[in-house]
Amino acid sequence: MYSRIIGTGSYLPEKVLTNFDLEKLVDTTHDWIFSRSGIVERHIAADSELTSDLALQASLRAIAAAGIGADEIDLVIVATTSPDQVFPSTACILQDKLGIRNCGAAFDLQAVCGGFVYALTTADLFIRAGRAKTALVVGAEVLSRMLDWSDRSTCVLFGDGAGAVVLRASGRPGIVAGKLHADGSHRGLLQADGNIRNGEVQGDPFIKMDGKGVFKFAVKVLSEVVEEVLEENNLQGSDISWLVPHQANIRIMEATAKKLGLSMDNVVVTVAHHGNTSAASIPLALDTAVRDGRIKAGQNILLEAVGGGFTWGAVLMEW
Ligand code: UT7
Repeated sequence: MYSRIIGTGSYLPEKVLTNFDLEKLVDTTHDWIFSRSGIVERHIAADSELTSDLALQASLRAIAAAGIGADEIDLVIVATTSPDQVFPSTACILQDKLGIRNCGAAFDLQAVCGGFVYALTTADLFIRAGRAKTALVVGAEVLSRMLDWSDRSTCVLFGDGAGAVVLRASGRPGIVAGKLHADGSHRGLLQADGNIRNGEVQGDPFIKMDGKGVFKFAVKVLSEVVEEVLEENNLQGSDISWLVPHQANIRIMEATAKKLGLSMDNVVVTVAHHGNTSAASIPLALDTAVRDGRIKAGQNILLEAVGGGFTWGAVLMEW
């Protein structure tokens, strides 16, 4: 038994914040942001929009593309670091908003920017084990609410959005391999250490990042994990039609593509218009390339991501 993606969808909030808008907020320039990250603009959720609202729109589009009824879904996984509330999970809220009754498991998965590859691999394992037939796997974030808008080293990098896929049991792959890794010893490089204690937020609720440290770690582990997946499946970089990386920084994507011997023409890049949307970035990029016709049946697709934790991983698929 394997699993295959049978529908993709995504959603971006209406409000767009450009680098030029940011020049008015903090001591930065469009040129600095663009040259260091490849970002031009990002979307920011309205005050009234919750992570589950973004997830709902992306999910409805993925379900429509899959041509199924929402009630056929028996597993909901939402990868997010910006859930609606402490509990219940955003996945349970989404399941209710979608009107899915008689659902199997619904849960959130917290692996920061590594969240979508973690969630997709987890859903694939549920399906392979015969514990689910049709999974909704979502990456959704409103990271803008966790940003210190006076900290130019972080607030220029992130954006809000959601992407979703419907994954269904199938006699042929589909998902060929998923490799996940974690190393908590470097957690101080990227974190929001705020927590609720005795009714009050303790620590810092905002994202803090050692950008250079994250950059070096990301390039190293992403190169290792993509090589690991290719080697185990007797493939070479040239066998990959599309690399769909986590969209954090164009320079990290270029470094990974170079390591694979892939031209940037084979890399799906959306970071310019989305910024870093954490767990949402891969399904947003995937949906973009599916809908504009770049991703086609029979192609080998490689997803990869790294995020706070650290968590990192890669998923190899036959489309
Ligand atoms: O999803 C995973 C999460 N994060 C990432 O993937 C981020 C990985 N890291 C990066 O992408 C890069 O390290 C950054 C884009 C965050 C920063 O680029 P960098 O080339 O590593 O710059 P830097 O942090 O070394 O900063 C260089 C200079 C500093 O000034 P001094 O000390 O050289 O005078 C910073 O203060 O740039 C300054 N700087 C800024 N200047 C203008 C930092 N942020 C800004 C800014 N605008 N927004």
